[in-house]
Amino acid sequence: MHHRDRGHRGQRGGLRRPLRHHAGAALRRRTAGQDVAREAARIERYGGRCHPFDPPLAIYDEARRLAGEFGGYYLDHFQSAAHAEDWRAGGLAGALVAQVVQASGGPPDWVVVGAGTGATSATLGRYLRYHNHPTRLVVIDPENSAYLPGWATGYHGYSTGMPSRIEGIGRPRTEPAFLPNVVDLMLPVPDGASVAVMRHLATTTGWRAGPSTGTNLWGALRMAARLRQRGERGTLAALVCDGADAYAGSYYDDAWVRERKLDPEPYRMVLERFLTRGVWVEPWVGGPGESLAAR
Ligand SMILES: Cc1ncc(COP(=O)(O)O)c(C=O)c1O
Repeated sequence: MHHRDRGHRGQRGGLRRPLRHHAGAALRRRTAGQDVAREAARIERYGGRCHPFDPPLAIYDEARRLAGEFGGYYLDHFQSAAHAEDWRAGGLAGALVAQVVQASGGPPDWVVVGAGTGATSATLGRYLRYHNHPTRLVVIDPENSAYLPGWATGYHGYSTGMPSRIEGIGRPRTEPAFLPNVVDLMLPVPDGASVAVMRHLATTTGWRAGPSTGTNLWGALRMAARLRQRGERGTLAALVCDGADAYAGSYYDDAWVRERKLDPEPYRMVLERFLTRGVWVEPWVGGPGESLAAR
């Protein structure tokens, strides 16, 4: 949300002095898993002000109300994100396909992405279809998100009302920028799995990424396991979404992760087994009390 300081306006609405701009943001009061205090501090560093609210689905009305109260303009990122990029021209989608063509000689068979506003997946899906690429689009979805149930049921008004614990992806309602018809497959990813893969990536490659990168890579590995199980071959592309700088005190912190019951351990074992033996066994397969390590 963006508002202009009315005290700086001339009598006929003309401008007397340069405007000071304040970015305002509505931030959830409580959080299921994300680090709201850090996010608020980051917004305030840029001169923004934060307005706590609850529950998660109140964000849209609250932002509109604040804009009215301060004489501002409600940017509504969730409505406008779908139109921010010309998907026919390529942008992110074109760059991704070109990179894979250069590396492997052809477009990817599968692309794996997440959905926050849903605009990235919509851009990719439309671009791939418009240019007749054979590539299929997989969207991974964290716990509590409305996208997967909305896609699976065909009810685009689906909402869970629950906040996502993975920063950047998963929404309490199906956002208008998300286009379910250009998505070939959706995969649910447990939040503990996102943390396990994010950490695995950091220790094995030195690439310290954010939690949604973990979600993406879990989805890509799950797809690789599926191809392998069917005796198929294929190229998979996934996005590395953001760096780890913002997450040292959260997803990379054991106490923070424990407090939010985001246990990565069972998923670390799935990953280890897959990467060493090529076998994918979900932690919940098998009877109660049966440890994955013993299987
Ligand atoms: C950090 C981050 N922000 C945002 C998004 C989602 O992008 P969009 O809002 O275009 O759906 C992702 C997707 O993976 C992400 O990882």
